[in-house]
Amino acid sequence: MQTAQRPARTVCTTPRAACLLVMISLAVIGTVRASSGLHKDSAPTSQYIHAVLMLIAWTVLYPAGVLFARFTRHKQSVKMGMPYWFRWHVIFQVSGSVFLLTGFVLALLMPKQDGHFSGVHNKVGLAVVIATVLQPLNALVRPHPKPETLKRKIWEHVHKGLGYGAAMMSIAAVIIGMRWTIKPEVPMPFVMLYLGIIGCLSVLFVVLEMDRRKKHHALAAADPTNAAGVTKVHRS
Ligand code: HEM
Ligand code: HEM
Repeated sequence: MQTAQRPARTVCTTPRAACLLVMISLAVIGTVRASSGLHKDSAPTSQYIHAVLMLIAWTVLYPAGVLFARFTRHKQSVKMGMPYWFRWHVIFQVSGSVFLLTGFVLALLMPKQDGHFSGVHNKVGLAVVIATVLQPLNALVRPHPKPETLKRKIWEHVHKGLGYGAAMMSIAAVIIGMRWTIKPEVPMPFVMLYLGIIGCLSVLFVVLEMDRRKKHHALAAADPTNAAGVTKVHRS
């Protein structure tokens, strides 16, 4: 079983990382509130906390989990029966889901004039939450990677499609949330900072993908019987 025990390192680093993220969140909330004008004109704190939790999930935790899944498959280390990439994918995606669900519950508790899921942000946000929550659930019923059956291929397409789809929709949810949902709106420099982070993540993804493809072709040329290359080793 892959989920028997968590590695000792995770137990030590996760609370520290969580404390750090909470401190960063408080700093961001303070800075945004301060630069949004006077306190009496600011949005309720629950809206800022909702925003920061969602931003941490979608600019740090989920992207990290995806990068591990796509670009570290070649790493040989196996702990507790889990390959390196899989271990980190699960750690980051589960942590991301804790932030996402906490942010979602906060959003549900916010007082609303027109009821739940009435605005555009609310609807897009709900779609992101549903797509993301389906991921760990569909992962529970994933067919074994070997032999590579049609069922497994369909599962991979569904899991990847939902994952990348949710990531795209999260960008829309964040921008609509920052500019048209929260009142007063988040100042433009913060929106530009967010777009800058998304830009950096996209550039990192493209660079790593080019490197991955180069290695894949080199491996396939050296050993045509293993044409599947680096992307097909160490699957879970
Ligand atoms: C991917 C990131 C995000 C997701 C998935 C998300 C999700 C949601 C959802 C599902 C709701 C609806 C709750 C309901 O109708 O009961 C909501 C409400 C809200 N969100 Fe977000 N959100 C995200 C990011 C943000 C950001 C960045 C901000 C602001 C900076 C923000 C501000 C708000 C506000 C103010 C509400 C309450 C709207 C109202 O009163 O109708 N959200 N969010
Ligand atoms: C703890 C629950 C999860 C498990 C066990 C899991 C498992 C997996 C597995 C086995 C793969 C490899 C698929 C393949 O063979 O190509 C994978 C890839 C992927 N997962 Fe997850 N996953 C989980 C949660 C999530 C979540 C919450 C997201 C949402 C952001 C996500 C997004 C992705 C993406 C985008 C890929 C494709 C990476 C690539 O391009 O190769 N996963 N996941």
